[in-house]
Amino acid sequence: MPRALVTGGAGFIGSALVRALEARGYEVRVYDDLSVGDPANLEGTGAELVRGDVRDLDALVTAAQGCDAAFHLAAGAGVIQSIDEPLVNFDLNARGTLVALEAARRAEVGRFVFSSSNAPLGEGAYPAREDKPIAPLSPYGASKAVGEAYCSAFHGAYGMHAVAVRFSNAFGPRSAHKGNVIPLFIRRLRAGQELIVYGDGEQTRDFVFCEDLADGLVRAAEADGAGGEIFQLASGVETSLNRLLELLAEVSGAEPRIRREPPRAGEILRNYSSVDKARDRLGYTPSVTLEQGLRRTWEWFASQG
Ligand SMILES: NC(=O)c1ccc[n+]([C@@H]2O[C@H](COP(=O)([O-])OP(=O)(O)OC[C@H]3O[C@@H](n4cnc5c(N)ncnc54)[C@H](O)[C@@H]3O)[C@@H](O)[C@H]2O)c1
Repeated sequence: MPRALVTGGAGFIGSALVRALEARGYEVRVYDDLSVGDPANLEGTGAELVRGDVRDLDALVTAAQGCDAAFHLAAGAGVIQSIDEPLVNFDLNARGTLVALEAARRAEVGRFVFSSSNAPLGEGAYPAREDKPIAPLSPYGASKAVGEAYCSAFHGAYGMHAVAVRFSNAFGPRSAHKGNVIPLFIRRLRAGQELIVYGDGEQTRDFVFCEDLADGLVRAAEADGAGGEIFQLASGVETSLNRLLELLAEVSGAEPRIRREPPRAGEILRNYSSVDKARDRLGYTPSVTLEQGLRRTWEWFASQG
C-alpha cells in the first residue's frame, strides 16, 4: 500500500485530499499544528494525525519516513495577513516550503506536490496560465512564487519529482473557517444577514470544488515526467459574482438580501484559469459543477447546525 504525508491535512483542502488518497489506496499520515485545522475534519478517515510545525525539520523528517509521496498544504492564511505581517508569512510559507522539501529529500520521499495559488501571477493574468510571467502583488504571492522556485530547484539539483500546483478559488465542505466569498456568503445567508457586493457584481472568478483539486493533486504526484513543472488546477470556468448569487438563491431556497457598495480599489475584475496543461499532461478533468458543489457545500454547513 503506498503511503502519503499531507502537511496541513487537517485543514479544508487537505482533508479532502486525505479522502481522495484513501480512495486511491494510500495510507495517509497528516502533519498539522492544528493552528487552524481541526481533527474533526478527519473523522471517518483512517489517517494518522501527527501534531507538529512544518518548520520543524527533524520532526517533519521523522513524519515523512516511509512515505512515497508528500503533499505540502500547510500555509498561513492569505493575502491580507501577509500584508500585515510579511516576515511571519515568509517564515511559514516560503521557509516552511523549503523545510518541507528538505524533509522529503532527507526521508527519501520520491514525490512532492506543493500547493501554490494564482497569487504569484498578479494582475495581468487573464486567464491564469503557467506560461505567464510572475508579478506578485502581495507577500503571500511572493511566498508562493518562492515555493514554486524551490520545487523547480529540488527537481533540478536532486532529481526530485517536485511539482507545484496553483489553485483558483476553492470551495466545499469543511470550509467553515475560511474567509473566501462562498463560505462567507453561506455563513451570512444561514444567519439571515445581508450579502455585501462591491461594484456591479460582474467581476468574475474561477470557483473550483475541493474534490476536483484533490484529484488534481494526486494526479500531479503520480504523473511521470511532471517533476519541476507548474500546473493550474481550477474549474476552468469563469463565473460572475451575480451568477454565484443566483445559484446561491436556488440552492438555499431563499432570495438573498444584497447590499451594493462601491467597487473596492485594486480588486481584480476578471479572473479564471486555463486548465489545458493539467488536462493534457495529468488527465485532470474537473467534474463537479458550481451548482452541484454549492449544493454539497450548503448541505455540509446545514449538517453542522
Ligand atoms: N482555499 C483556497 O481557495 C486556496 C487557494 C489557493 C491556494 N491555497 C493553498 O492551499 C493550501 C491549503 O489551503 P486551505 O484553504 O485548505 O487552508 P486551511 O487553513 O484550511 O489549511 C491549512 C492547514 O495548515 C495548517 N498549518 C498552518 N500553519 C502550520 C504550521 N506552521 N505547521 C503545520 N501545519 C500548519 C493549519 O492548521 C491548517 O490545517 C494552502 O497552502 C493555501 O495557501 C488555497
